[in-house]
Amino acid sequence: MQKILILDFGGQYNQLIARRVREQHVYCELRPHTMSLEEIRRFDPIGIIFTGGPYSVYLPDAPKPDPGVFSLGVPILGICYGCQILAQSLGGLVTAAQDAAAREYGKTETVFDPTCTLFRGLPEKSVTWMSHGDYMARVPEGFRLAAHSAACPTAAIWDAKRAFYGVQFHPEVNHTAFGREMLRNFLYAVCGAQGDWTMTDYRRRSVEALRERVGGGRVLLALSGGVDSSVLAALLSEAVGRQLSCVFVDHGLLRKNEGDEVEAAFSSRTLDFRRVDAGARFLARLRGVQDPEEKRHIIGEEFIRVFEAEAKTIGAVDFLAQGTIYPDVIESGLGQSAVIKSHHNVGGLPDSVDFREILEPLRLLFKDEVRQLGRELGLPESLVSRQPFPGPGLAIRVIGEVTEEKLSLLRQADAIFREEMAGAGLDRTAGQYFAVLTNLRSVGVMGDGRSYDYAIALRSVQTSDFMTADWSRLPYELLDRVSVRIVNEVKGVNRVLYDITSKPPATVEYE
Ligand code: XMP
Repeated sequence: MQKILILDFGGQYNQLIARRVREQHVYCELRPHTMSLEEIRRFDPIGIIFTGGPYSVYLPDAPKPDPGVFSLGVPILGICYGCQILAQSLGGLVTAAQDAAAREYGKTETVFDPTCTLFRGLPEKSVTWMSHGDYMARVPEGFRLAAHSAACPTAAIWDAKRAFYGVQFHPEVNHTAFGREMLRNFLYAVCGAQGDWTMTDYRRRSVEALRERVGGGRVLLALSGGVDSSVLAALLSEAVGRQLSCVFVDHGLLRKNEGDEVEAAFSSRTLDFRRVDAGARFLARLRGVQDPEEKRHIIGEEFIRVFEAEAKTIGAVDFLAQGTIYPDVIESGLGQSAVIKSHHNVGGLPDSVDFREILEPLRLLFKDEVRQLGRELGLPESLVSRQPFPGPGLAIRVIGEVTEEKLSLLRQADAIFREEMAGAGLDRTAGQYFAVLTNLRSVGVMGDGRSYDYAIALRSVQTSDFMTADWSRLPYELLDRVSVRIVNEVKGVNRVLYDITSKPPATVEYE
């Protein structure tokens, strides 16, 4: 498999660069810029990308790649800081832009030289996304200018002979009109990529690798019904079938039909699928509990108890499988990116399950690739395109005490909202949407009678990272349909509210 190496200089769009490369069916990995020449040789990339970064190349502590990287005969693309470090390392001069106008932030009209391979087949003028306060005052020997903007004469440089390219702007962000095409030119026209990164191949290769690693051992997986653990179950089922045990703890806090959907997807496979219906147990522990943090704590703890009890009946386990995915690896491993908010996940590791090794077969995949792999493995779309669902489930969407009656109201209302969102084709564009049962009861009039019932809040947000989110501008007609259906169909609800708060200051969930 051909590989692109992305050397991380700490820029905020680094994950995005990796995703953009993978989207073009070329495998890549993001590694720290401190990677040694020997490791780079062993990695054997067909091309190298230097990312952006928050530093200035002329400062004493500026991060630099191993200088040997320029003698490997491998094409290089430098982006923003990556472009400046490329230029400086090869004899160019980078300085702070003296004049404020030469610093560029935001969308910038840029003019390209179409004879440069990066810009081949693209319009001569288009918008790029710039974000730099330094600029290349002198380009290194052997390089030519390939793009300019009104403020910056050196928006892109290239040396066709050595296949070195540098762009001052960010081709990976959507604001750069032809960014995807530029990256594609680098991958295919410069590096000679063949597009050999496909989920069909990945599936075949990982099944072989898993069979070899697991041998005759026994594998245990905590299946939550979320995308990652579901795809992992399907992959392991194909690889080691009968040696796999999946424990699905149904805590009774799932959405309408969810438990049955998970069971239907897995009980027919040749694996030991165990659904533990522990709803009554969880509800008993949650009785009388109002405080959100206490609810979360009880659910997390109870989950582990139930899981452990079931694991004990399975007996000796050699491998514990976990659905770690690439963003988790990047966020915890490279030490360059910002710290991401950590959520306690109900599928957390119990301490007392005995196992020899951990298996993480999805650790090199992005979320969209995990979904693709799931489709490839024949999982139903309802599981594969599932939106994120918190481990504590509906318990944190029922405000105050959780009871079976309240859960039932919420399940019905949530199912109506989801049905209408899907019917309007908005289920793909909204980041996350759901109903919440507030603790508010209010007076209404139904028919000729007075009602005193619950209010349902609808929440829909647009977000790319769930750390910040904006409320979705849903069409009034859709909100109207959902509201009418909920008050008509869900007995016990007489009012529907739409949440128009962003995060921050609110959070996505209510508890
Ligand atoms: P908040 O409410 O913090 O949610 O804005 C951000 C995202 O995280 C999800 N979430 C959780 N996921 N375990 C999880 O696995 C949890 O305890 C948990 N709490 C919140 C939430 O649904 C949203 O996608």
